[in-house]
Amino acid sequence: VIFEAGDKALLIDRRGRRYLVTLRSGSSFHFHRGIVKHDAIIGLPDGSHVVSTGSETLTVFRPTYADYVLKMPRGAQVIYPKDVAILLMQADLYPGARVLEAGIGSGAMTMALLRAVGPEGGVIAYEQREDFAERALVNITDFLGKVDNLEIRMASIYEPIEKVEVDRAVLDLPEPWRAIPQIRGCLRPGGILACFLPTILQVQRLTQELEADPRWTSVWSQETLTRTWHIEGPSVRPDHRMIAHTGFLTFARLTAPVAEPRSKE
Ligand SMILES: C[S@@+](CC[C@H](N)C(=O)[O-])C[C@H]1O[C@@H](n2cnc3c(N)ncnc32)[C@H](O)[C@@H]1O
Repeated sequence: VIFEAGDKALLIDRRGRRYLVTLRSGSSFHFHRGIVKHDAIIGLPDGSHVVSTGSETLTVFRPTYADYVLKMPRGAQVIYPKDVAILLMQADLYPGARVLEAGIGSGAMTMALLRAVGPEGGVIAYEQREDFAERALVNITDFLGKVDNLEIRMASIYEPIEKVEVDRAVLDLPEPWRAIPQIRGCLRPGGILACFLPTILQVQRLTQELEADPRWTSVWSQETLTRTWHIEGPSVRPDHRMIAHTGFLTFARLTAPVAEPRSKE
């Protein structure tokens, strides 16, 4: 992979500080250890080293999904990569799946969904704030390029919505229980609902509402604590700091409607 003008590049200095730039011929990257001309990066392979005018060597990589979402401009708070990772696996997102999402926020979840479902699948994302939807679309196309399997619908998912059949539903908004009737009307039997919520009282309310409806089964919740380690010579221990809390994930699966008993002829 060779860097071209217009690409994103992640520059990492020797102390591990990370800088995200968009490469433009004629532009320069300035930091406390000097300047690197973008033209010095354009044409190099991914993972190359460049030296700044202040004699600092930086490594240049294509940003990963996690590099990008943690640096991209945000309107709404993004869902963290550690939670996205679990959600994609536990909600069994697969190539070709059709997904209903709300709200789009800054687009972090949408990007991960688009990558998981691939060009054969698609995402329909509900969002009620125009400014967030615009920002999200810029973020998404900035990272993924032009996408033609994303439809953004500017409406509240708490109100009745236009019907569409989907395999998965992903909610990251404050009162997901208000969206359950709409999701139930769109999710195919066997489909999976995944919700991200920051507080446990929201999780309790959502769980109670899902369990009150016999068509939802396998309702369960989890949180993900990620603890990194400091490994340097004989000093091998957990890092002092960690992101202690982001939120909880709740999953549920929709069953088929109970068939009327067949009458004996
Ligand atoms: C926390 S943000 C979502 C962040 C997103 N998952 C991401 O990773 O960037 C919540 C979003 O839900 C939207 N929202 C809240 N209530 C909504 C509703 N009833 N219908 C549609 N969107 C809604 C908000 O405007 C906001 O953009």
